[in-house]
Amino acid sequence: MRQIDIFDTTLRDGEQSPGVALNPAEKVQIARQLAKLGVNIIEAGFPISSPGDFEAVKQIAEEVRQVSVCALARTQAKDIERAWEAISKAESPRIHTFIATSPIHMRYKLKKSPEEVLEQAVAGVKLAKSKVSDIEFSAEDASRSDVDFLGRIFSSAIKAGATVLNIPDTVGYATPEEFAKFIYEVMERTEGIEKVKVSVHCHNDLGLAVANSLAAVQAGIHQLEGAINGIGERAGNAAIEELAMALNTRRDQYQVQTSINSKEIARTSQMVSRLTGMMIQPNKAIVGKNAFAHESGIHQDGVLKERSTYEIISPDSIGLDMDTIVLGKHSGRHAVRDRLTELGLEVDEKRLDEVFKEFKLLAERKKEVTSADLYSLVDTHTHDVPEITLDYLQVSSGTQIVPTSTLGLNYQDQRYDDAACGDGPVDAAYKAIDKILGIDHKLLRYALQAIDGGEDAQGEVTVSVQFDEHTVGGRGVSTDIIEASVKAYLQAVNRAFERGWISFKIGGI
Ligand code: KIV
Ligand code: ZN
Repeated sequence: MRQIDIFDTTLRDGEQSPGVALNPAEKVQIARQLAKLGVNIIEAGFPISSPGDFEAVKQIAEEVRQVSVCALARTQAKDIERAWEAISKAESPRIHTFIATSPIHMRYKLKKSPEEVLEQAVAGVKLAKSKVSDIEFSAEDASRSDVDFLGRIFSSAIKAGATVLNIPDTVGYATPEEFAKFIYEVMERTEGIEKVKVSVHCHNDLGLAVANSLAAVQAGIHQLEGAINGIGERAGNAAIEELAMALNTRRDQYQVQTSINSKEIARTSQMVSRLTGMMIQPNKAIVGKNAFAHESGIHQDGVLKERSTYEIISPDSIGLDMDTIVLGKHSGRHAVRDRLTELGLEVDEKRLDEVFKEFKLLAERKKEVTSADLYSLVDTHTHDVPEITLDYLQVSSGTQIVPTSTLGLNYQDQRYDDAACGDGPVDAAYKAIDKILGIDHKLLRYALQAIDGGEDAQGEVTVSVQFDEHTVGGRGVSTDIIEASVKAYLQAVNRAFERGWISFKIGGI
């Protein structure tokens, strides 16, 4: 059966989602999980875009094995040099270089003629080829480009050394039948096409990213690009889990295979959601909370009699066979380590100490610590040491009083306290934090959900916060939802501070 390579861009295009800002440790953690999921290529970032991105790509290239690690670069020499510097230690490095080819992009964005674009593309691919053998060349906004021009630029890219040609639907404008025909026509016009792999990269502006990608499979391509949970620029990218499960469930139609281990899908999806702070809509295909829930009596009756009446995928095929009860307050370090190993969570002794400490605190507040709780604890401990931490928190709120919050924050071995009133207890707490740190924020998004079933489930809060022109996400988990809210906000504050987007004026200094 024809093999389709899965190219994951969660850490590059996915990280371009508004409000998402992952630190290098979080990116490495996601990359390790992507390797377990079985993707063939991890696009780890865009090294020229920031020192943080460069560092993350470099760490992934050095630490994540048995998968190809790719870095994005425009066709400019400085981008390609920086990309190579970041991935040179990878087991199987790839440079992905791109330039826009549509009349709109060439005229208004690049201000270049088609001939100049072609020349720059060839120069970029040649330079990349002087560093590494595996080169992907993308024609940005390909789906709105002239098919003859694409044939010419792709033929030249192959001569210059490209090994993969990518046809992106950058603005999510294509429709499935038209896209399949377009790909076919481009391939027909490209000299040497039999020597390279053809890829597509579809955006979801019209909700057609997965449909367009699958139409491209039927047109004969070899690589699909996408992101976990479909995150990415604007409406996002094709969701990898949807592509993988569609190709798997309807193999009769597509006659292709991928190397995705579907049992790792739920775990990967939840990790990406937690670390990016991008919640998954409940009715999202494959990984939404309701994807396997049967509500109507007729459906429940059918499923009880025979699951296949209303279920085309089993929950355990995507790794949703998690237990309920695992550990409690009497469980020791050994039991926690064994359970983490069973769940495939790698922690060294130092991390285990931290996780175990948190586990004990949690077990005091919650009768049963579930696998979902353990995943959450381990993910939380991936963050670098935060600058600001919560020391204590008190809130008073009710029907006849003004909500007030008093809290203490630790910063550089000192505690700072203050109090504030607000529209509600969360607003009051956020205002108290702002007062202590001398900062100002705009809360763009606030979401609260239980991370597990059961009455004593922990609350998970995700926020998206704006500091001046920068948007950053945060996540907090606790059995107390106000504490979870404060932790989420503090994570956003720490991330913004780490990136130099805010500075603290503690005590007016
Ligand atoms: O959407 C797009 O065109 C891209 C390219 C860089 C491949 O993300
Ligand atoms: Zn894209």
